Order: sequence, then structure tokens, then C-alpha cells
Amino acid sequence: MRILVTGGAGFIGSNFVRYMLDSYANYSLINLDLLTYAGNLENLKGLANNSHHRFVQGDICDQETVETLMGSGLDAVINFAAESHVDRSILDASAFLRTNIAGTYTLLEAARKHKVARFVQISTDEVYGSLGPQGAFTEQTPLAPNSPYAASKTSADLLVRAFYHTYQFPAVITRCSNNYGPYQFPEKLIPLLISNALREKPLPIYGDGLYVRDWLFVEDHCAAIDKVLHHGKAGEIYNIGGNNEKTNLEIVNLVLDQLKKSAALIRHVQDRPGHDRRYAIDAAKIGSELNWQPRVQFSDGMRRTIDWYVKNQDWVEHIRSGEYMRYYEKMYDHRSQTLQEL
Ligand code: NAD
Ligand code: TYD
Repeated sequence: MRILVTGGAGFIGSNFVRYMLDSYANYSLINLDLLTYAGNLENLKGLANNSHHRFVQGDICDQETVETLMGSGLDAVINFAAESHVDRSILDASAFLRTNIAGTYTLLEAARKHKVARFVQISTDEVYGSLGPQGAFTEQTPLAPNSPYAASKTSADLLVRAFYHTYQFPAVITRCSNNYGPYQFPEKLIPLLISNALREKPLPIYGDGLYVRDWLFVEDHCAAIDKVLHHGKAGEIYNIGGNNEKTNLEIVNLVLDQLKKSAALIRHVQDRPGHDRRYAIDAAKIGSELNWQPRVQFSDGMRRTIDWYVKNQDWVEHIRSGEYMRYYEKMYDHRSQTLQEL
């Protein structure tokens, strides 16, 4: 297979590129990534001389680039490229509307024109909104996005749906829960907690810390996408989840435990506006139809993740020397006076 992977220099995309190159010796991947603040060529270290991987720096909104790649004889497109952080979307949603909606449209239109036989849209459980204490999202749960990020991902999903319905364009959508693992940008909860704890910096917990997410190790997500790519049915949606609900306080305590740091580092800070209380995924459909199950136990995945961040502190330091620190100040300064030390 010859596959266009977009956003393959980001967290999940770079893990997926490595997963596919390891799994399929004869596949070729073209990796289109704009290298925004979240894209990082260090995530693709070791692949520069791999003849099965070609990196192209470019924008999924750029019709000319996208058309050229789509016309190069592709079997499939997997769209990871996105603005992906809820808090940034609350500060300014414009890049989210551009990349997540207009970018997806540009890809869909060009893929349809060039008759690409498979299009996998990597979506998120956040399109379903927030749950009460009971129940889980199924593929039939009504769409009810609550953040600008979630609204932009939902819009993209609706475009994908319309392309299938109108043009029989062979697209599938995956909706996964929160991922964790190596190469995740340290603005997201788990890598932020690990990298701050390693530097004895305060650990910001929004509100009461009793918000619940379902966590999935990134490698399990890659295996699920592999299943959907090869066996998913056009026009279908597949939820992907880890069966692993944790409160944010459980997560921070686990990080502190493993790194043997003091709970005195925890700071309850001002809550995120519109913060979704709970996400949980019912992944029965991908289990029964495509025979996928999460394999990595949370304790194991967290141990591997924390080990990776301990061993790759240079990777974090390079990020911390760039645009990220300006974002960090803007995001956390107003939340609490006690965070000056951040
Ligand atoms: P990420 O922010 O780490 O990576 C996004 C990548 O997209 C970056 O490399 C960035 O440079 C690239 N990109 C951004 N705008 C672009 C553009 N206009 N053109 C080309 N490339 C562009 O995100 P991630 O966590 O790896 O998420 C990947 C996908 O998975 C996203 O679509 C996200 O919505 C979805 N998702 C993420 C999670 C999660 O927990 N991280 C869970 C479910 C779904
Ligand atoms: P995040 O990693 O941003 O993922 P998402 O909001 O897309 O689920 O956040 C995960 C949870 O952690 C969410 O409930 C918000 C919370 N959170 C904090 O408490 N403190 C932080 O500094 C961050 C970034 C997140």
C-alpha cells in the first residue's frame, strides 16, 4: 500500500508512522505535516534514511500541494493533521476552524477527484460532549461538542459523512478517547504532569480534579487504526477506547508515586471554561466487527510513558525553549497567583 499520512510529525501520527513501518515492510508512507508548534521532526528521528517514508512539509489547506500528492497514486489517506488542544481553542479558535474543517474539506475533495479508495478520518470522543456519572458513548450517541476544538472536529466528521452519503466516497471515521504515550506534546495533561514533576514544578489541576477521561496507550490506538484501514466498512464510524476511566487526581497521584515526588506539588487552579465532566467509550463495535481490543494495561503504559520522558528530557527541553513557553505563561498565569513559580 501507498498511504498519505497527514499530521505524521505530531504525537499520534508519528507513533502511527513508526508502527506501520515496523508492521508492513512493503508499505510506503508519505507524511504531510505543516510543522506547527505541535509538529516536531525529532518525533521522526531515525526515519530520515528510510526509503519507505517520505516527509513533506506542507499544509492540508493548500489545494495545490494536496492535489499533487493525491495524484501520485495513493491507496489510502489517513488524516491525523489537526489543531488538537482544547485550551488553545478556547483562547483562539481560528486555526482550528481552518485546519480541522477547511483542511479536511481540501483533503476530501482532492481524494474524491483522484478516486482514492480509502480515507480514514481520525476524530475524537469529544464530538459527543460530556457524560454524567453513568453510561458510555456509542456510535449512535448524538453529537454535542462543547469546546471550539470539539466543534471543529464534529464539523469535519459531518463533511466526511456528507461525502460518503452524497458521492459514495469511501471514508470511515474513528473516534478515540484520550491517548497517552511517548512523543505527546507537554501541553496535554499526562506529559505536562511528568515534565513538571521531574523539574519539581507545580502540577496544575483544573477545578476539583474529579473530571474523568478514558485513557488509551497510543500503540493500541495505532493498532485500531490499522484494523480500520484494512477492514473498516466505508461510511461507518468506529469508537475506540481503553476501558480505563480515571479522574485527573488519580492520574496526578500515579505520576507522583512513580516519580517519588511530593503531593505538595499539586495546585488546584481555575477551571477550564465549559470543562466536560466525563468521557467514556463503548468500543464494542470495533471489538466484535474488527476484532480489536486494547492490550496495554494502564499501569504498564504509564510506566513506559514515564520512563520515556525521563530518558528523553532533551526532547522536552527543546520544546520548552520554543513558542511553548509563551503559551504556558498565557494559559497558566491568570489561573492562579500561586503559579508565578511556573
Ligand atoms: P498533535 O497536536 O500532537 O499533532 C498534530 C499534527 O498536525 C502536528 O504535527 C501538526 O504540525 C500537524 N498539523 C497541524 N495543522 C496542520 C496543517 N494545516 N497541515 C498539515 N499538518 C498540520 O495531535 P495528536 O494528539 O497527535 O492528534 C492527532 C489526531 O488525533 C487529531 O486529529 C486529534 O483530533 C485526534 N485525536 C487525538 C487524541 C489525543 O488524545 N491526543 C484523541 C483522539 C483523537
Ligand atoms: P487534556 O490532556 O487537555 O485532554 P482533553 O481536555 O482533550 O481531554 O486534559 C485532560 C484532562 O486534564 C481534562 O479534564 C483537563 C485536565 N487538565 C488539568 O487538570 N490540568 C492541566 O494543566 C491540563 C492541560 C489538563
